[in-house]
Amino acid sequence: MTLLDIRGLTLRTTDGTTLVDDLSLSLARGERLGLIGESGSGKSLTALAILGLLPEGITATGSIELAGTQIVGAREKHLTRVRGRDAAVVFQEPLTALDPLMRAGRQVAEPLRRRRGLKGAALRRAVVDALEQVRLTEPDRIARSFPHEMSGGQRQRVALAMALACDPKLLIADEPTTALDVSVQAEMLGLLDTLVRERDMAVLFVSHDLAVVARITDRALVMRSGRAVEEGALLDLVRSPGHAYTQALVGSARRLESALNLGEAR
Ligand SMILES: Nc1ncnc2c1ncn2[C@@H]1O[C@H](COP(=O)(O)OP(=O)(O)OP(=O)(O)O)[C@@H](O)[C@H]1O
Ligand SMILES: [Mg+2]
Repeated sequence: MTLLDIRGLTLRTTDGTTLVDDLSLSLARGERLGLIGESGSGKSLTALAILGLLPEGITATGSIELAGTQIVGAREKHLTRVRGRDAAVVFQEPLTALDPLMRAGRQVAEPLRRRRGLKGAALRRAVVDALEQVRLTEPDRIARSFPHEMSGGQRQRVALAMALACDPKLLIADEPTTALDVSVQAEMLGLLDTLVRERDMAVLFVSHDLAVVARITDRALVMRSGRAVEEGALLDLVRSPGHAYTQALVGSARRLESALNLGEAR
């Protein structure tokens, strides 16, 4: 069954610049897709559009159907219902999702309270449980910490706990590990893979890095300058890129891979 169906999505600024041009993609329940492309190709805007979170001054035309709800042109009231329940997002920089002035526990509690109606001791237990699920050791201490008192990896786990709190059908991960160092990045990707598998969640995984995408999914759509240039199995994209741009992406992934292998051999 189709969970996400994007048809002819076009995103324009008020002055008429086209940022995403006639993009179509679809995702079935439990399916995973990578969204690959260089900086500025429109990956994040596409991700934001799915949740109706486009920045001021950017308008969408076309259609985004998420679990049966039309997102383009939807009222905020409908969008709030969709967010968290149907889809949730983890960003590159966890501080985007976290309130710097609020302890982690309260932030994780918020979606649990709002969506599941939990309160009191049951809510506190659910918060600790959510922090444990993202493999945070010392969940009680983390719950009492402010974002600046945590490491980047811990913050990203808290952001992931918030995104997963209401068991969304689709997790959108927008370069969730780019800001982390390589070992924390690998741990985080493993964790994300496990948690999503356990919950049978669909994933749209945004990255400019093929090697990272390959940890999560075996299928990807390649974007360039706001357009989808090709889509297919990662293996096919790597073996026989149909587009010069994909070829360039693969080339840079190969260079990265050999650099990493050198690093491991050292
Ligand atoms: N609020 C905004 N107003 C106007 N233009 C914007 C806005 N946000 C993004 N853009 C432009 O839209 C294009 C796509 O941006 P987007 O953030 O989706 O790229 P991206 O593929 O996510 O890049 P990166 O890999 O660097 O994260 C870019 O040219 C960017 O400059
Ligand atoms: Mg981006």
